[in-house]
Amino acid sequence: MKGVILAGGLGTRLYPLTKATNKHLLPVYDRCMVHYAIDNLLRAGMENILVVTGGPHAGDFLRVLGNGKHLGIKHLEYGYQEGEGGIAEALSIAEDFSEGQPILVVLGDNFTDADLGPAAREFREGAHLFLKKVADPREYGVAVFDEKDVSRIVAIEEKPEVPKSDYAVTGFYIYDQRAFDYVRKSEPSARGELEITTVNNFYIRDRLMTWSELDGMWLDCGSFDSLFEANRAVAQARRRDEERLRPVVPDADK
Ligand code: G1P
Repeated sequence: MKGVILAGGLGTRLYPLTKATNKHLLPVYDRCMVHYAIDNLLRAGMENILVVTGGPHAGDFLRVLGNGKHLGIKHLEYGYQEGEGGIAEALSIAEDFSEGQPILVVLGDNFTDADLGPAAREFREGAHLFLKKVADPREYGVAVFDEKDVSRIVAIEEKPEVPKSDYAVTGFYIYDQRAFDYVRKSEPSARGELEITTVNNFYIRDRLMTWSELDGMWLDCGSFDSLFEANRAVAQARRRDEERLRPVVPDADK
């Protein structure tokens, strides 16, 4: 299995910070946001990682990540998404890199101390979602469960006004090669983007979707409040010397 970080977009919700650099290079305590996504993949055992980025500050990644060796990455590649075609379009850039292997995909602004490794090791085929129960799921993809078999997802609804469950779809996904065909079959949504939720709904339709509950804290750092919360979480974890938010390679950038 290989690792993919999707780190494009304009980050408009974080203007003016994202006028200076890409959202995923903004600080979360003493490191850049993307470092935590890399650690999630390294902890899960991924040795080959692709960072797909885009927007006006894509070049900044090279300065921060270089070839990734100092971070413990065996092989690091970059992909560039032209324009704002959505998460699923960014995912399609990973097709050649994946070389037929399954991929563990991380949205670069998603922040967790959970271990994605067990699900990655158990994965065989289809797709796997990591869900998290949240107080207000309206900002996210939301799982709809079968009324008779409550463990079975029958659909994902993207940012519904009236959510049918409390389970948000986090930005961590495992996909086999079908994902790329499903992206090709996808139609742009109302906001003109190819949505990851459309890809997930294809897997659900074909009964190829599994899920587990994300075993840890979860934040989507796309807003000032959640970015602030992520900073606070790392600061507190460092003080308590918690293993789950410790850098995989300590002092890599010092
Ligand atoms: C995306 C996905 C959504 C998911 C969320 C997790 O939304 O479309 O399904 O719940 O990431 O962070 P976005 O934050 O890009 O609007």
